Amino acid sequence: MSAATPVVELKQITKRFPGIVANDSISLKLQKGEIHALLGENGAGKSTLMNIVFGLYQPDEGGIEVNGQPVLIDSPNKAIELGIGMVHQHFKLVQPFTVTENIILGMEPKKGMNIDYKSAAEQVRKLSEQYGLQVNPHAKIQDISVGMQQRVEIVKTLYRGADILIFDEPTAVLTPQEITELMDIMKRLVAEGKSIILITHKLKEIMQISDTVTIIRRGKVIDTVKTSETTTRELAEKMVGRSVSFKVDKKPAQPKGPVLQVRDVKAKSHDGLPVLNGLSFDVKAGEILGIAGVDGNGQSELIEALTGLRKVDSGSIKLLDKEIVNRSPRHISEAGVSHIPEDRHKHGLVLDFSMSENMVLQTYHRPAFNRGGFLNYEAIDKQAERLIEAFDVRTPSIHTKARSLSGGNQQKAIIAREIDRNPDLLIAAQPTRGLDVGAIEFVHKQLIAQRDQGKAVLLISFELDEILNVSDRIAVIYEGEIVGEVLPEETNDQELGLMMAGSMKREGVTHE
Ligand SMILES: Nc1ncnc2c1ncn2[C@@H]1O[C@H](COP(=O)(O)OP(=O)(O)OP(=O)(O)O)[C@@H](O)[C@H]1O
Ligand SMILES: [Mg+2]
Repeated sequence: MSAATPVVELKQITKRFPGIVANDSISLKLQKGEIHALLGENGAGKSTLMNIVFGLYQPDEGGIEVNGQPVLIDSPNKAIELGIGMVHQHFKLVQPFTVTENIILGMEPKKGMNIDYKSAAEQVRKLSEQYGLQVNPHAKIQDISVGMQQRVEIVKTLYRGADILIFDEPTAVLTPQEITELMDIMKRLVAEGKSIILITHKLKEIMQISDTVTIIRRGKVIDTVKTSETTTRELAEKMVGRSVSFKVDKKPAQPKGPVLQVRDVKAKSHDGLPVLNGLSFDVKAGEILGIAGVDGNGQSELIEALTGLRKVDSGSIKLLDKEIVNRSPRHISEAGVSHIPEDRHKHGLVLDFSMSENMVLQTYHRPAFNRGGFLNYEAIDKQAERLIEAFDVRTPSIHTKARSLSGGNQQKAIIAREIDRNPDLLIAAQPTRGLDVGAIEFVHKQLIAQRDQGKAVLLISFELDEILNVSDRIAVIYEGEIVGEVLPEETNDQELGLMMAGSMKREGVTHE
C-alpha cells in the first residue's frame, strides 16, 4: 500500500439490520486515481457499504475520512458536496425529460428568473467530450439505450463535481459491446484523476480493469489484494470460502419428444415495427436449448410471447401439442410453464410483500395454500422455509420484505420458486444476472438437474460463456428470426459472434 492519504478511508464501519450484521467492522482505503473493486457473495454487504458512503444509510459504528478529514455523510447531498457520486444499478432518470434536463434536475443553473438550459447543455456536451461518453444533451431518456442511460448517470455525477465515483454492478445490465465501452470510460476517468469503487461479480472485469480488490464475505473484509498479484481462481475462492469450478459438469443430453414447438411466430412492437419475423424452433424434453443473440433482436418479445405477456399476430406456439398462443399468462403458467424473468422487479417479485408471500405468487389459490378462500399461512411459510433453505437464499427471515434482500438473493428466490413448480418447460431469461460465481455454479447445476429429470429448458442469455457451457443445443436469434442452430461442441464464440451479427447463416435442423 502506498503511503499517500487515501481519498476515502472507511474505518471499521458496522451496519446492522434486523436479524443481520450487513457490515461488520469494514475498513477500506481508496487511493487517488485507482479503480478499487469490491467483490463478495450475494448478500455480503457491498451495496450496504456503498450506500453508507453515499449518505443513504448511517453506520451504527465506525467513521469515514475524505482526503484525511473525518466527515459525517448524512445525506446524498452531503456526499455530493464532498465530491462523491454514485451510479446506481436501477437508474433514477425521468423518461420524458431530455438528457440535460435530467442532469440539472434539482440544481438548475439560472439566468435571471429562467433556467439556463443552453449553458447547461453546453456543459453536458463538454463533459461528455472530455470523458469520451458521446452523450447527446438533447436526446430524450425514453429514446436512448440502457447503456446510454448509464452514461447519462455518469455525466450527472461529473456535472455535480464528483471526484470519487461509485459503480454498483454497472455491467449487469450492459451488452458485451457496451461493457467494453464502459471499461474504456472508466480508464479515462481515472486517467483524468478520478477515483473509482467498482462492485462487480464478473472476475474477468476485475482482472481487466481494477488496481486493487477488497473481498468481503458475510459482512467482513477477508482480504485486500493488488489485482496484478492475484488470479480469478484465488479471488473466487477467497470470496466463497471454497474452491469453485468454472466448468459445468454434465452428461450428454437424452432428448425425447418436443415439449415446446414454436412455428412462424410474427409480432410487432408497440409502435408497429416487426420484432418477431417468423420465428420457429423446438425445445425437447430432456434438453437445454440456448438462445444466443445480441440484445434487442427479439429476445424479450419472444419471452413475452411464450409467457402470454404479448399478443402475436400469427403463428403457433404449442406446449405438449396443445396450442397456447395468445393465451393468458395464468393459463400458460397453469399449463406447465415456469419463467425466470429477465426483469426481476417488474415480473419476478412484489417488493413490498414478504418473502413467504412471494414464494406462492402463482400458486396461492391452490388447495395446498388456500382453504375456502382463506390463505393457509402455516403451509405457505413451510413452503417458503423449504425453498429458502434449499436454494441458500440469504434472508434474516421468511417474513422479511423482498425489497430488503440483496439483488442476488432476490434472484435466487425467484429461481427457487420457478423450479419448484415442477414445470414441463422452464424458461430461464438471464438467470444468473447479478449472481456471484458460487450462486452461478449452483443455478447452472439446477438447470441441468431439471433437464436430467426430463424437463425442457429454454435458456436465453447474453453471456456467451453461459450459453456455450450450459446448452445442449444453441439457436441464434437475429432480427426476430432464428438464423441458425449449432451444437456447443461444434462451435465457438467467434462463429457464434458472426451469426449473432447476422453476417453468417448456418442451417441446422429444418422445421417441417
Ligand atoms: N434496507 C434493508 N433492510 C434490511 N436488511 C437489509 C437492507 N438492505 C440490505 N439488507 C440486508 O443486508 C445484507 C447485505 O445486503 P447488500 O444488499 O449490501 O448485499 P450485496 O453484497 O450488495 O449483495 P448482491 O451481490 O446480491 O447485490 C443482506 O442480508 C440484506 O438482506
Ligand atoms: Mg448489491
